[in-house]
Amino acid sequence: IKKIGVMTSGGDSPGMNAAIRSVVRTCAYHNVECVGIYRGYEGMMEGDFKPMDARSVKDIINKGGTVLKSARSKEFRTPEGRKIAHQKLMDVNIEALVVIGGDGTFNGGLVFNKEFDFPIIGIPGTIDNDIFGTTHTLGFDTALNTVVECIDKIRDTASSHNRLFFVEVMGRDVGHIALNAGVGAGAEEILIPEENLGLERLLESLQRSKRSGKSSSIVVVAEGDKIGKNVFELKDYVETNLDEYDVRVSVLGHMQRGGPPSCFDRVLASRMGVKAVESLLEGKSNYMVGLINNKMTLTPLEQAVKGKTQIDRELLRVSEIMST
Ligand code: F6P
Repeated sequence: IKKIGVMTSGGDSPGMNAAIRSVVRTCAYHNVECVGIYRGYEGMMEGDFKPMDARSVKDIINKGGTVLKSARSKEFRTPEGRKIAHQKLMDVNIEALVVIGGDGTFNGGLVFNKEFDFPIIGIPGTIDNDIFGTTHTLGFDTALNTVVECIDKIRDTASSHNRLFFVEVMGRDVGHIALNAGVGAGAEEILIPEENLGLERLLESLQRSKRSGKSSSIVVVAEGDKIGKNVFELKDYVETNLDEYDVRVSVLGHMQRGGPPSCFDRVLASRMGVKAVESLLEGKSNYMVGLINNKMTLTPLEQAVKGKTQIDRELLRVSEIMST
């Protein structure tokens, strides 16, 4: 392989830039040319490419977002779109791809590989940590730190006013951010899609905590929680049923996706970039790089997209004990 393309696609996450830097520098180290592809599969179909050498990625290890930009492409889901994209890669002799993103990105890569036998390695980049085959996706750790910092601030005002706060955090289908940040920030209750606490039990738990002498509380709610009410409806429900509570809602939103990556995410990104490029150079394809037991691993892309992550039951139990 003489030329590798690198791109970021889907929702951005802190650490993507550090991963781009690592891919580019690993290519330079092995005397392989590297080309940045802008805006994911969208830019691939438009031939929006830029050659990248080792110096072109200076000063980005510490930056959130992605210098290559990101997009979600509808056209790439069609055979015609993928044919155009393939031709654009052929035109500039790109022979293999490192794709950084989540399931959508990997699904696109899998189909593309099937149709054109094009070598692809994936790097998991999403704050949700919902990718099978790695204990940590890029950006998860940074997002946790951001959420904990925000909840610490919310706690100050919650306790000054003896209030109950529902804090909604990201996690479209999973509760990893909610559970980990909830434990880290000392939340009273954590509502996640994997475990339906139920409205009755939520009320009981809040009553119990009031009786035990707590004057303020934080309940962390994952965006994808299945309790049947959104955070604003939850607020109304609790205020209607427990009139002793003064309730507020805070939706943290996209701030969770931004900011400088944590040291953990920078190191992870650097390791994943090296592993991705070197795997391609060893002739491997259709794998996702991951972190398991602190070792770099390869999981077949197909398994990475089909597999489901599990919630950490032990952590769930810790959170229950901590809210005693
Ligand atoms: O990247 C994952 C995620 O942050 C989810 O937690 C969230 O539901 C979604 O992306 C929001 O995506 P967007 O606003 O970019 O469409």
